[in-house]
Amino acid sequence: MANSNQNNSRVPFGWVVAFAALSVCAALFFLLSVWKDYDREWRGYQRTFREMLVERAGTEEERKAALASGDQFEQIIVAGGERVDRCVMCHRGVEHPAFKDADQPFARHPTIPPHPFEQFGCTVCHQGQGRATSVQDAHGEVAFWEEPLLRGGFIQASCGPCHAGALKDAPLIQKGKLLYLMNGCLACHKIRGAGGVVGPDLTFAGERKKDPKWHIEHFKFPQKVSPGSAMPAYGHLKPEDLEALTVYMLSLRRAPSALALAAPRPAAGKK
Ligand code: HEC
Ligand code: HEC
Ligand code: HEC
Ligand code: HEC
Repeated sequence: MANSNQNNSRVPFGWVVAFAALSVCAALFFLLSVWKDYDREWRGYQRTFREMLVERAGTEEERKAALASGDQFEQIIVAGGERVDRCVMCHRGVEHPAFKDADQPFARHPTIPPHPFEQFGCTVCHQGQGRATSVQDAHGEVAFWEEPLLRGGFIQASCGPCHAGALKDAPLIQKGKLLYLMNGCLACHKIRGAGGVVGPDLTFAGERKKDPKWHIEHFKFPQKVSPGSAMPAYGHLKPEDLEALTVYMLSLRRAPSALALAAPRPAAGKK
């Protein structure tokens, strides 16, 4: 009895092979299409950049060189491989004088204190996902990436870990520190040993929560973000004050790499 049952459910071997082959083909086809989409995005930006280079060429030689240049896979290897940043595959004009007023991602980088890109890369100041080559993935604006791109004023948070003390180019850290003292945060939180114990120690707050949006939302609605939280809401503060508090919170982390070792320490008063 049991035997006949088994016979009924047996599938011919040929079918199994055919099915397996078909599945492998489908998987390969899927991977290929994903890869092509992934690849296409940065190539599109490189093509546009080449067209802009041709337009902006001052001499016939420059024009010819621009026309002749092909797609380039480029990356900056930081601190011996601690980071690999491919942002320049799309942000092609960061060091190009003729791209001062270009649209993103082609614009020349705004003037900042000198940190050579070939040594520092980009993510050490901007976060994001250095190895990725599609816009959303590279900017880390996807669910699985915990360090989304820092834009505008939030970029200042990244200066804190390498530069202890006040920095005139990162005034939002100082402003945030002041707001922290003025709004009674100290009553519940400790930073480097000083403060209360109702809330978590914030000495490395910026290492646990690296998304500016999380902090803003948490300041406005602590109980929505952390159910049952004893933290009061700070939604009454001005948006720019919440931004400064967030920059200060994000700046509370350890220096990211060997790059930090040579950093001057303005607070020590010597150069
Ligand atoms: C596949 C192409 C691509 C890659 C790779 C890429 N970007 Fe972008 N980036 C863009 C585009 C397109 C924009 C403009 C749209 C936007 O703001 O999201 C942009 C905008 C930006 C902006 C904001 C500019 C502004 O005016 O607000 C910053 C900052 C930035 N990118 C940094 C980075 C960093 C850092 C990396 C590497 C981790 C990176 N990008 C990788 C395409 C790219
Ligand atoms: C030392 C830190 C640092 C490094 C390294 C750095 N940036 Fe920036 N970046 C900044 C700061 C600060 C600003 C904002 C300047 C301003 O607003 O005047 C900025 C602005 C930008 C902007 C304009 C968007 C905005 O919000 O103003 C883009 C795009 C950008 N950076 C891309 C890059 C790319 C690509 C790299 C790597 C090749 C890079 N950056 C490396 C600090 C850095
Ligand atoms: C990964 C660590 C790191 C980060 C992040 C970083 N710096 Fe620096 N910074 C350094 C180092 C190292 C030097 C020394 C560079 C040199 O002189 O070769 C330096 C130099 C400087 C100087 C002095 C330049 C001079 O002319 O003497 C200033 C000002 C400065 N940084 C401001 C900033 C600001 C503002 C930010 C954030 C946008 C920032 N740094 C982010 C490591 C860092
Ligand atoms: C009455 C006490 C109290 C006060 C005042 C208070 N907090 Fe909190 N805070 C908490 C508690 C409790 C938590 C843990 C639950 C949560 O995440 O909301 C917390 C969490 C946090 C976190 C998340 C820490 C982490 O690692 O998850 C940050 C950041 C923070 N607070 C910043 C602040 C700042 C900045 C202020 C002042 C503007 C402040 N807090 C005022 C009690 C307080």
